[in-house]
Amino acid sequence: MKYGYFDDAAREYVITTPKTPLPWINYLGNKEFFSLISNTCGGYTFYKDAKLLRLTRYRYNNVPYDNNGKYFYIKDVTDAANTVVWNPGWQPVKTKLDSYECRHGLGYSKFTSSKNDVEAKLLTFVPMNDNCEVSKLTITNNKSTAAKLSLFSYVEWCLWNADDDMKNFQRNLSTGEVEVVDGGSVIFHKTEYRERRNHYAIYGVNAKVDGFDTSRDAFLGAYNGPDSPDVVAEGKATNSVASGWSPIASQQINLDLAPGESKTFIFTLGYIENPEDDKWEAPSVVNKKPAFKMLDSYKTEEAVDKALKELCDYWDNLLGIYHISSKNEKVDRMVNIWNQYQCMVTFNMSRSASYYESGIGRGMGFRDSCQDLLGFVHLIPDRARQRIIDIASTQFQDGSAYHQYQPLTKKGNSDIGSGFNDDPLWLIAGTSAYVRETGDLSILKEIVPFDNDMSVAKTLMEHLKCSLNFTITHKGPHGLPLIGRADWNDCLNLNCFSEHPGESFQTFGPSEGPVAESVFIAGMFVKYGEEYAQLAELLGDDAEAKRARDEVKKVYDAVLDAGWDGEWFVRAYDAYSNKVGSKECEEGQIYIEPQGFCVLAGIGVKEGLAAKALKSVEERLDTKYGVMILQPAYTKYHLELGEVSSYPPGYKENAGIFCHNNPWVSIAETVLGHGNRAFEIYKKTCPAYIEDISDIHCTEPYVYSQMVAGRDAKFFGQGKNSWLTGTAAWTFVNISQYILGVYPTHNGLSINPCVPEDFGDFTLTRKYRDAVYTIDVKTNGSQSGVKKLTVNGKEIEGTVIPYEAGVKEYKVEVIM
Ligand code: GLC
Ligand code: GLC
Repeated sequence: MKYGYFDDAAREYVITTPKTPLPWINYLGNKEFFSLISNTCGGYTFYKDAKLLRLTRYRYNNVPYDNNGKYFYIKDVTDAANTVVWNPGWQPVKTKLDSYECRHGLGYSKFTSSKNDVEAKLLTFVPMNDNCEVSKLTITNNKSTAAKLSLFSYVEWCLWNADDDMKNFQRNLSTGEVEVVDGGSVIFHKTEYRERRNHYAIYGVNAKVDGFDTSRDAFLGAYNGPDSPDVVAEGKATNSVASGWSPIASQQINLDLAPGESKTFIFTLGYIENPEDDKWEAPSVVNKKPAFKMLDSYKTEEAVDKALKELCDYWDNLLGIYHISSKNEKVDRMVNIWNQYQCMVTFNMSRSASYYESGIGRGMGFRDSCQDLLGFVHLIPDRARQRIIDIASTQFQDGSAYHQYQPLTKKGNSDIGSGFNDDPLWLIAGTSAYVRETGDLSILKEIVPFDNDMSVAKTLMEHLKCSLNFTITHKGPHGLPLIGRADWNDCLNLNCFSEHPGESFQTFGPSEGPVAESVFIAGMFVKYGEEYAQLAELLGDDAEAKRARDEVKKVYDAVLDAGWDGEWFVRAYDAYSNKVGSKECEEGQIYIEPQGFCVLAGIGVKEGLAAKALKSVEERLDTKYGVMILQPAYTKYHLELGEVSSYPPGYKENAGIFCHNNPWVSIAETVLGHGNRAFEIYKKTCPAYIEDISDIHCTEPYVYSQMVAGRDAKFFGQGKNSWLTGTAAWTFVNISQYILGVYPTHNGLSINPCVPEDFGDFTLTRKYRDAVYTIDVKTNGSQSGVKKLTVNGKEIEGTVIPYEAGVKEYKVEVIM
């Protein structure tokens, strides 16, 4: 069952009922100011950091779902005996609407709904170069008589630190402050501005208002929720000026509309920072100049439309960088629109702010952000470059890393811990992707601090060397890399031994152990050790390249020796040196990660083990909804394994379909030339291909979720944790670089598709460095192998099109 449809021409998903199984959200904002908005107008807003600079309050654990947003109430008093109150997004009043539509587009959302012949059209977005969210609301009277309406706006301020905001009431109920100007047209939220903050928030409308409220209790009534505000029921704002308690911003506008008449209002929710020495215009009166300047920019409909056009042009441009046209509508839709859009969002947010990542717990993940970069780097390489430097700046001198850092301060967050031994290697992955994309070697020579300490700064290449050396110097009894606190699988806590509830698996116990080893990290080391060696060569350091390759060889051999279980790769060795993910185990006999990653790194390909491993995946881990992370699921808690065995069977890391590593297996299949199977795996978790089961899948049909419940779970097939997942980047890497086969190398683009037999011919446009490549592929029903490659009329050997600076256009013909 579906709850909407894709409108590919508009690049929108159109939701046709507000009653989706879960809130279906969208992200507004591209740089520093962000809002989340659901299909019922729920959501929250922040500047740079969802924890530290939160503008509007969201209620976690909310009942009903999706509680608090930026709401508009329309009160229709045309028929005094039958007044009705409704919202364009249905929530919070939930009056049954006569029509409803929500269109989530790229960086904007649009709502069109109606009740009793009054129509509301709401457009909301964050302009490209401003720190505000603009909402344009048009109300039209389609009645045959005059309509008498009142419009009320409503946002609830968060007192900036979203974590403290929901805990520290003894202080917070006394700190709230506002200023009201222009009779309520503009409301300033200035809590803590008098002391250590130089920023405030505004909510303004481009019209004269008939009243306002800034006290939540005055607007709602102490015992009401946003579904039944007193002020709306009365039809009369109280002009309350908040002092402490819970400040809000609400404006009332009364409307008399003739039949057929429309009126448009523009609401702006903004964030303003003032210079420390220019904070006040009079004692206790904030300097409002920059706020009025911002409001002035969006005073007219023309200005708003122009800002929206800028946003759309921006996306046009970005999506022109990699564009496919094939006979597979759903592939085109994901590749050209939604997958790349999600890559942008994961790049911006890492794992910090979604409906499942509350924005108060996790910041920017070291490994997460490095991987997000893989799917983003072609879009805006400059931002990827800065991100690499930011991430590397939090690395420790021994190569290890804080697991996360705060986006606002860019400093490592020690509350979340360190000692995840895969972290260092991801920095090589991200940097290599950046250099292959851009050819910019200067990044390797940038001077980058360790743990933000400039006095111990070294070049980025030295950082990468520390990453590599970390693995080399942290190996266990089998010559495999030590796992530390965990590797990519945060839940494989082999040194943790947690016996008491409440202990965080992420931080409890030692972060090191001399015995427990990871075959997954070994696979990573083989892949990224080689990529490191290539970077060393580019810098002319052949000795270092050789050293790296010698080390790679050792780990490769260690995997074949101690990491092979007979039919598949072992996952790890625990702290007693017992195998994890082996036929010897009672539960958890096979894990997906080493099968995918070792094979995509090339381990066991020539030995014939890779094909065996992937066959085992197909036989033991595959389901109709995707490939499970392990089998058989753990039915009891294993002290020596940690969190992985803490989840009920079928959920999360305990035998869920953890979407992130499905593309690894799909890529691994392409390494073996298995186009049919690679694509089958791609399709199983691909949002556009599973739109029809939205009632089972529950999460948004236009983006990936972190996890789909596995076969052992009661709710097999149900998605959770949508949006912020490495699945976005890895899937884009898989489809764009391996299945469609356009892979950036240091010397130029390589074209080597691996598609299913019935995929058909396709054409691709790829901007790469300074040039545009138009690539025509004739697949001839084959799954892999390029028979002939012609570039600008000349046939070339191999699959790499040598990059020549200065050549702007490459016309490429590929015959498979
Ligand atoms: C979560 C984390 C990611 C981790 C994965 C597997 O998605 O964000 O860092 O690799 O879980 O545990
Ligand atoms: C838990 C989750 C995992 C996540 C980690 C970090 O271990 O199962 O997916 O990555 O927490 O928050």
